Amino acid sequence: MKKLVILTHPNIDTSIVNKAWKTMLEKNAHTFVVHALYKVYPNLKFDIAREQEVLEAFDEIIFQFPIHWYGTPFALKKYIDLVFAYGWAFGPGGDRLKGKKIGFAVSTGGPEESYNAPTGISVKGLLNDLHLTFEYCGCEVTHLHVFYGAMFNYKAKLLEENTERYLKTFANSN
Ligand SMILES: Cc1cc2nc3c(=O)[nH]c(=O)nc-3n(C[C@H](O)[C@H](O)[C@H](O)COP(=O)(O)O)c2cc1C
Repeated sequence: MKKLVILTHPNIDTSIVNKAWKTMLEKNAHTFVVHALYKVYPNLKFDIAREQEVLEAFDEIIFQFPIHWYGTPFALKKYIDLVFAYGWAFGPGGDRLKGKKIGFAVSTGGPEESYNAPTGISVKGLLNDLHLTFEYCGCEVTHLHVFYGAMFNYKAKLLEENTERYLKTFANSN
């Protein structure tokens, strides 16, 4: 079954990392379906029922986004707050996400050194709220794929290798 990639990037045209990842995903359209929130909803007025249907149709979902202020872009937070509704994602009868596999593909501007042990900060740690949210909804959180340092040590070769790793990580992940 194909995997759904929920892409949240406010300006994919000027993106380097997420755009390269998106190109790779689209080349592998037999495996991935890209759902770009800002493309479908430029004003972020989500059609909640439609989004719930989209999510229900896939067993594996990857959330792809850049880190913004040590967390998710606000559009993704808004999406989750609205779409993961009572009676759908949680509460009575709220089991529609149960059993789904959830992965993350995340880019940072900061270099890897700013996300390692001495700093006490890690990308996994920054995504703790998402992790807890998905577990609460009965999902299994699987892989976290990261590109570090988009603003500091960006090199085309590094991004190419990283993009291949993204593909390998998620193409055969079930
Ligand atoms: C509003 C905003 C906040 C950001 N906050 C962070 C941050 O807290 N940590 C970080 O490492 N990078 C931060 N960045 C940098 C982005 O994560 C980085 O530009 C992005 O991951 C690069 O991916 P792209 O080439 O797909 O745009 C921020 C960027 C923006 C626009």
